[in-house]
Amino acid sequence: VQRSLVLVKPDGVRRGLSGEVLRRIEAKGYTLAAVELRTATPELLAAHYAEHEGKPFYGPLVEFMLSGPVLAVVIEGERCIEGFRSLAGATDPTKAAPGTIRGDLGRDWGVAVQQNIVHGSDSEESAAREIGIWFPQLA
Ligand code: GTP
Ligand code: MG
Repeated sequence: VQRSLVLVKPDGVRRGLSGEVLRRIEAKGYTLAAVELRTATPELLAAHYAEHEGKPFYGPLVEFMLSGPVLAVVIEGERCIEGFRSLAGATDPTKAAPGTIRGDLGRDWGVAVQQNIVHGSDSEESAAREIGIWFPQLA
């Protein structure tokens, strides 16, 4: 059975959407292996977003992720990596389909695309790497 790392990003936590994200995860049938409200650090984000280092949006993304607490979650379930990506919807909330977390809840006016409420691991390799970063005790 798969595990995936989900983050409710600072915009989601600030807007009081942590419970709504967890509700959708549980309603889908995934279980929660770990849930913790955390304040990220530059070191942790450098590891988490290593693949994006050097891209134009990297600095603003890290700054945004440091702007408030995040809810770090490990979910568990059959094919939950791809499944949560489906629940989350497209990266840009304007393009995310209705019915998805970003499509239903993402605000795309007056904010940059990095404010898209959630993160979800995009492969088994990323999931293992990211769970190791956020919850080393589970890896
Ligand atoms: P995550 O689940 O958060 O990893 O989103 P993703 O896999 O849909 O997107 P990706 O990994 O490509 O990018 C990581 C995050 O960087 C996105 O979720 C956005 O928050 C941000 N991001 C990606 N592309 C852009 C961009 O072109 N501009 C800005 N400002 N932010 C971006
Ligand atoms: Mg990604």
